Amino acid sequence: MNSPLSSATPRVYTPVSELHVHAEHLQAQSLSDLLGSGSTAAQQRANALAFTFGSLHIDFSKQRLTTKTLMLLKDWVESCGLAAKRQALFAGAKVNTSERRAALHVAARWPSSETPPEGMESAAAFCQHQRKRMAEMVERVHSGKWYGATGQAITDIVHIGVGGSDLGPKLVSEALADRPSSAKVNVHYVSTMDGAQLLPLMECLNPATTLLVLASKSFTTADTQFNVRTALAWLSHALEVDEATVCRHQLIGVSSKPDKMAEFGVPEAQQLVFKEWIGGRFSLWSPIGISVAMQLGVACFDALLAGAHAMDKHFLHTPIEENLPALVALVGAWNSQFLNIPTHAVLPYDGRLKSLPAYLQQLEMESNGKSVGLDGRSVTHATCPILWGDVGPNGQHAFYQLLHQGVHTVSADFVAVAQRAGVGCEKVNRSLKAQEQLTLAHCLAQSQLFALGDDAIPQALRGLMAQGYRGNQPNSVVLLKTLDAWSIGALLALYEHKVFVQSVLWNLNPFDQPGVELGKRLATSLYQTLADEPVEYQNVEDPSTAQLLHKVNEWRK
Ligand code: F6P
Repeated sequence: MNSPLSSATPRVYTPVSELHVHAEHLQAQSLSDLLGSGSTAAQQRANALAFTFGSLHIDFSKQRLTTKTLMLLKDWVESCGLAAKRQALFAGAKVNTSERRAALHVAARWPSSETPPEGMESAAAFCQHQRKRMAEMVERVHSGKWYGATGQAITDIVHIGVGGSDLGPKLVSEALADRPSSAKVNVHYVSTMDGAQLLPLMECLNPATTLLVLASKSFTTADTQFNVRTALAWLSHALEVDEATVCRHQLIGVSSKPDKMAEFGVPEAQQLVFKEWIGGRFSLWSPIGISVAMQLGVACFDALLAGAHAMDKHFLHTPIEENLPALVALVGAWNSQFLNIPTHAVLPYDGRLKSLPAYLQQLEMESNGKSVGLDGRSVTHATCPILWGDVGPNGQHAFYQLLHQGVHTVSADFVAVAQRAGVGCEKVNRSLKAQEQLTLAHCLAQSQLFALGDDAIPQALRGLMAQGYRGNQPNSVVLLKTLDAWSIGALLALYEHKVFVQSVLWNLNPFDQPGVELGKRLATSLYQTLADEPVEYQNVEDPSTAQLLHKVNEWRK
């Protein structure tokens, strides 16, 4: 007799349904089972699930999956048409369907020495032209020939931008300019709309030798506009010149809107342009990255682009089985959609990468944090998980307790650097080497403990140590040989392509961000009610916000 579950219509197997069935089977196996110490199978698994590309090595063996899972995931992504969609991306097709635009951030790192794919030619040529103009500006500053309004050479750059116009350059600056001696000029990043980051700079920088970089794709973002207004007021007051003069001597604009830059007062020779087809969170490679080039030199910026470009070619040409961005994407989608893991931690084991979690939050959550598909229908499964994180060793003294013994399942990327350059003094070097070793040991120990829980406790210590480590928290280790410009370029491009592959799996448009608009609108109208002479609150319909406005206004008097 048929069971009540079997119906007249036979079950149709799709890659997704097969993955669900497979996930159910795998639930019974913990990571301890999969990693089973000492067995040949476990050894083979460790070898099969680790991949190297240039100076990047990624180990997926502590993910809750098998080689069969990867095979099924590969079928899934192929059935979603990844190959054709990837080709369309690189050929400049209008993959950003809602805004009817291409997404050609890859053109910004295409070198002039290589023929671009068909469809990308004019975009690559445009980017190369702007890169040349950017290099000339950088050279002028480095050679001491860029003079401020009072005739002094520039020593400091204040980069004003937010979101994609801030996070990428800031991350790279922190990662590569860790020693002040390596910087050609000092660079300071300002993003918060409240002016809090500008205030200390206004106190310590020399206004006569400070150059502002106004970085804003749209050139309308309030956070950036308000910051630049304050910065111009400061320079104008301190130098006793009008703001137009400050703009002529001490302002570079980077935007996709040259008309708006001109209207603002940025002289044409000081405007750097990138096109609408580079999304804000993908714009590090465009002249938005000028402050990195100012700080570290054009050669360093070129090396960053070269690393990203190498990853582009790897992504474009490598079969899925060995394609690192595709694998990272598939593993992420597996965790989120099939293992139902709602959050993903990014845990850099290198203080220089402290801003990596914030960078990836924007890249991934602003891109794929969506629930309506390209077909206009609501999706019925999980999409982008909540990303969060902090420098791993510091997290160990804060939130790791919950990860080891709390109730939540999370996935994680541990990011570590194998080698770093020393300093001149032998004694200090020895001590720094020990710190490097300590950090790597902690990274690997935590990755092991996440995966194995109590089973990570060595036999000799069992019974002697507190137990209750949950384990079974899937994680990848991303190991960089060194933290140089090439490696960080390749790493960030890897995550960009991860986002693209996941958007293909989830049928989303990763290149727009309609969900950020309404908040800006509401704030614009509330701004009026907080003016010195507040207007009435008729527009504020909810009593909760109205009482907060009353209180704020009362305390601001
Ligand atoms: O928060 C929305 C957003 O548009 C991001 O996508 C973008 O990176 C950021 O604001 C800054 O925008 P802009 O570069 O246009 O100032």
